[in-house]
Order: sequence, then C-alpha cells, then structure tokens
Amino acid sequence: MTPAEKEEGYRRVEDGIDAYLEECTERVGAMATLAAFLKEQLSHIFWVGFYLADEDGSLRVGPYQGPPATPLLPAGKGVCGAALREGKTLIVPDVHAFPGHIACDCRSRSEIALPFRFEGGLAAVLDVDSALPAAFDETDRRHLEELLGRISSRLS
Ligand code: SME
Repeated sequence: MTPAEKEEGYRRVEDGIDAYLEECTERVGAMATLAAFLKEQLSHIFWVGFYLADEDGSLRVGPYQGPPATPLLPAGKGVCGAALREGKTLIVPDVHAFPGHIACDCRSRSEIALPFRFEGGLAAVLDVDSALPAAFDETDRRHLEELLGRISSRLS
C-alpha cells in the first residue's frame, strides 16, 4: 500500500468513526466498528482488535477482526503487555525479533500496539498485525493515536 493509499484509507476510517460517534456512543460498538473500518480500508492489516486490561494487567480479548485470537495475554507479556506496561505505542517491524512476542497466528510478521484509557478508567490496548514485514510507520501511529483519542474521550 503506497503512502498516499494509506493516508486515504485512514481518512475513510476517520470519516466512518465520526459518523458512528454522531449516532452512537456505546463502547463495545465503537471498538467493533473501528476494528471493522480499519480491516476494511487498510490492506496492510491482517488482524486488528482490542485487548481489555484486568486489574492485574492481564489482557482479555475484546472486539476484533481477523483470524481467531489468543483470548488471554498474561500481565506484562507480549507486545501488548509491554505497550500497556510502558504506557506508549510500540511499533514492531519484525515480530520474531521481539522478545516474548505472543504469536496469535504464524502469518503475522509486524505489529503496532497502542495503550489507551477510556474515560472512567478502563485500560485497553489496540493491537494491529500485518502479514507483511515492517508494515507500520509513523503514519499509522499518528492516525491510530488520533482515532483512539476520538473514541476514548467520547465513550464511557
Ligand atoms: N502478538 C500479540 C498478541 C495478540 S495477537 O497478535 C492478536 C502480543 O505479542 O502481545
């Protein structure tokens, strides 16, 4: 996917999520709809979805699109656990080089994981996988952080 195609894809996702939020401010629906728009509009995405944090930091799978995912990630483990623990977006160009990476599907080659909080406290991670190596860059980080900001501040 060219940089221009990626920008255009994210623009469509942003339009779609804005339209959703005008009509509905329901948390599960927004997570499911965001996952669906991302999977539909961005061809470098192989799996996209949310993990929701328990109090001990373990992550339970939430709404997602793609092949069946690992249901429970132990606290602090994997790319998602590390992103939540460090409180920052992690871009992993080669999942096989990431110590402790948890493979949900052996086709996954690169990944981006973004921790965030819903208003009211629930912590979560948006995880996005690609079957291509080094598929995620600053464009993905910028747009995904912006999209999470839009939904996390609007939904309780
Ligand atoms: N690879 C993730 C686990 C989730 S799956 O990719 C859907 C990780 O290492 O945390």
